[in-house]
Amino acid sequence: MFIDTHAHLGYESYDEDRELVIQRAIEADVSAIITIGTDVESSREAVGLANKYATVFAAVGIHPTDCAATTEADLEAIKELTADENVVAIGEIGLDYYHMRAPKDKQHHICARQIQLAQELNLPLIIHNRDSHEDMYNLLSELDAGRTGGVMHSFTGDLDYLHTILELDLHISFTGNITFKKSDANDLVTAAPLERLLLETDSPFLTPVPLRGKRNEPAFVVHTARKIAELKNIPVEEIESVTTANAVSLFKLDI
Ligand code: NI
Repeated sequence: MFIDTHAHLGYESYDEDRELVIQRAIEADVSAIITIGTDVESSREAVGLANKYATVFAAVGIHPTDCAATTEADLEAIKELTADENVVAIGEIGLDYYHMRAPKDKQHHICARQIQLAQELNLPLIIHNRDSHEDMYNLLSELDAGRTGGVMHSFTGDLDYLHTILELDLHISFTGNITFKKSDANDLVTAAPLERLLLETDSPFLTPVPLRGKRNEPAFVVHTARKIAELKNIPVEEIESVTTANAVSLFKLDI
């Protein structure tokens, strides 16, 4: 069985067929999906989906591109949502200097507060980092973010960066973009140790080859698993079993 550790099932692109998408994932042997919140409303939706579907779990948090107007009350609302037993992580949180929809100091503050919340609640982190490598590393390091575990989702950076992140005791996941012809992630995938790897789709985005151009969904995670197996030159069954065990252990999934 596979686990898709990062999907946004609340997106409106699934409004017409959400139930079928979850059903197709089960048929494709994707036995668990973590659906991710990016603000209070989508986090609440994620918890709702996790309560409705047995194979769905939720992560709650405020994304750096959605944090410009985040208040103390919003952070409190995220904390309250974690009381639900289907919430398995704080995320996605982080820094994003590519879109830059909030000033850097606001992004830092909201990210730091949520790392502290994860530590208070002993929950792992799901981290988004876009064009903010150095500051992201410094923040994670200063707050000892690896203490409760977590994953650098849709990992980007060079080999040195990969190693510094691994030293923080964090996991790594790659999306369907590693299957793209122009992907420059081959060395990263090869170098990322199996015992720290997770699978994810980031659905509805980043659809893997050969389905590129279509809306992404959790059932497609197998294509990314195959690409990782090919690059590491090991059977896909090994990627499947190790990444599933990693996800179960990191997120304490009851499956
Ligand atoms: Ni995401």
